[in-house]
Amino acid sequence: MPPVLLQALLILVYSWGLATSFTVIMSDSGVPSALIDGPQAGFSMNNNGARTDAREQEAVYDIMRATGNDWATDIPDVCRDRWHGIECMPDKDNVYHVVSLSFGALSDDTAFPTCEPARSYISQSVTKLPHIKTLFFYRCFDSNPQPIPAFLGQLGPTLQTLVLRENGHLGPIPNELGNLTRLRVLDLHKNNLNGSIPVSLGQITGLKSLDLSWNRLTGSIPNFSFPELNILDLSQNLLAGPIPPSIGTSRSLVKIDFSRNRLTGPIPESVTGLTDLILMDLSYNRLTGPLPRTLGSLRSLQALILRGNQMGSTTTLPFDLFDGMKDLMILILSNMNLHGLVPESIGRLPNLRVAYLDGNRLNGSIPTNFRELKHVSELRLNDNHLTGPVPFGREMVWRMRRKLRLYNNSGLCYTANSGFEDVLHSSFDSGIGLCETPRPSLSRTVQHFSTING
Ligand SMILES: *[C@@H]1O[C@H](CO)[C@@H](O)[C@H](O)[C@H]1NC(C)=O
Ligand SMILES: *[C@@H]1O[C@H](CO)[C@@H](O)[C@H](O)[C@H]1NC(C)=O
Ligand SMILES: *[C@@H]1O[C@H](CO)[C@@H](O)[C@H](O)[C@H]1NC(C)=O
Ligand SMILES: *[C@@H]1O[C@H](CO)[C@@H](O)[C@H](O)[C@H]1NC(C)=O
Ligand SMILES: *[C@@H]1O[C@H](CO)[C@@H](O)[C@H](O)[C@H]1NC(C)=O
Repeated sequence: MPPVLLQALLILVYSWGLATSFTVIMSDSGVPSALIDGPQAGFSMNNNGARTDAREQEAVYDIMRATGNDWATDIPDVCRDRWHGIECMPDKDNVYHVVSLSFGALSDDTAFPTCEPARSYISQSVTKLPHIKTLFFYRCFDSNPQPIPAFLGQLGPTLQTLVLRENGHLGPIPNELGNLTRLRVLDLHKNNLNGSIPVSLGQITGLKSLDLSWNRLTGSIPNFSFPELNILDLSQNLLAGPIPPSIGTSRSLVKIDFSRNRLTGPIPESVTGLTDLILMDLSYNRLTGPLPRTLGSLRSLQALILRGNQMGSTTTLPFDLFDGMKDLMILILSNMNLHGLVPESIGRLPNLRVAYLDGNRLNGSIPTNFRELKHVSELRLNDNHLTGPVPFGREMVWRMRRKLRLYNNSGLCYTANSGFEDVLHSSFDSGIGLCETPRPSLSRTVQHFSTING
């Protein structure tokens, strides 16, 4: 039995600020097997008749020379005496073929050959590897900035994983990459790529992970439809125009990150069909309201991050907006110019850990069911127009301490003997005073308070 390439775990670590981190772990996503340490493809000791395809061996020498790894040309058989970063597979005649090449110091444990900074490039000899499934270059060309070569498109019949991460690539994403119709993973994270996202990428119908984040891409997001796509990360670019409604047809999406672009228009209704979605980050764009009414149908969602979009002066949060999002742990809606009341459905989210609603124009009182939020460790309601009594008791305030922010509201107050006053001065600076006892001449705030307490 020939050893098979391991399908590695794809671990996505998502973090916001320094506060907390959030991890999605998925299997079968085809990042290089060497990302985890496991048995590698190649010769076993008994495989004496085996040899490496001679043309592929010459091609590997070219590729290694082009990255400053001339030492490799002294290796008589690149599959037999292989290094960490090359994988081979035998055919039925016991001839070995190169299926994976990786470069760059990914971590202390994954010592792929590094690239010589000043003169490395991708040799066109990669097109002489007819069985290549994985190409992985990490921090290889950042000192010798160069475009992504169009000839990579010629690897269409076999290539499944193309990772060109933090390489300093500039210029456009070549249209020819759309010819890589068997790709599962395309990762061009953190280069200096400009121009627009090629529409030709839409031909890669089996794509599972597309990461074009941290570039300088312009234009709008094409009307893609990728039925198997799990990960779509276009964050930190200069993309403009609307979020295409076709996003709703990529039904396998688990993570969407479009943060820090210039996207406009509303969040399309079609996103509510993405029932596997775990993370949606659309923060720091120019999106406008209204929010899709059926957002609650995103029942797998664990993190919803929309902060920094000025939604327009009439955008409100419908009271039942979050009903259905039973897994939601992180809700970040800061600085969105939201009006109206804080929805009660937030208080019914059993797994909520972090909720930021600060910097809006929310009015009315904090829903009393917020005291049911047993797992909340961070709550920001500061810089709003909230009034009435704070519904939390001592235990909840103590749990959050400084991560509870209530300052700069119109008229929040605490009721005597709620336990709130015990922690007031020791834990945070809220600027909140004792609620007034209702008197015959009622002020608005007090009227509100007395309604809540029956
Ligand atoms: C690859 O794609 C380009 C542009 O998208 C096209 O012009 C070319 O014919 C394709 N090449 C092959 C070998 O399919
Ligand atoms: C992309 O950047 C290069 C310089 O790196 C520049 O010459 C080119 O005009 C840019 N293209 C676009 C579409 O911005
Ligand atoms: C996407 O499709 C809509 C109509 O369905 C069209 O108006 C728009 O121009 C398309 N956008 C792109 C980038 O192809
Ligand atoms: C909240 O503000 C809206 C206007 O944005 C107003 O119509 C409504 O009466 C206010 N509600 C409360 C309880 O203050
Ligand atoms: C208080 O919050 C409002 C937003 O509701 C904001 O505009 C204002 O600048 C804040 N005031 C202070 C002193 O931070």
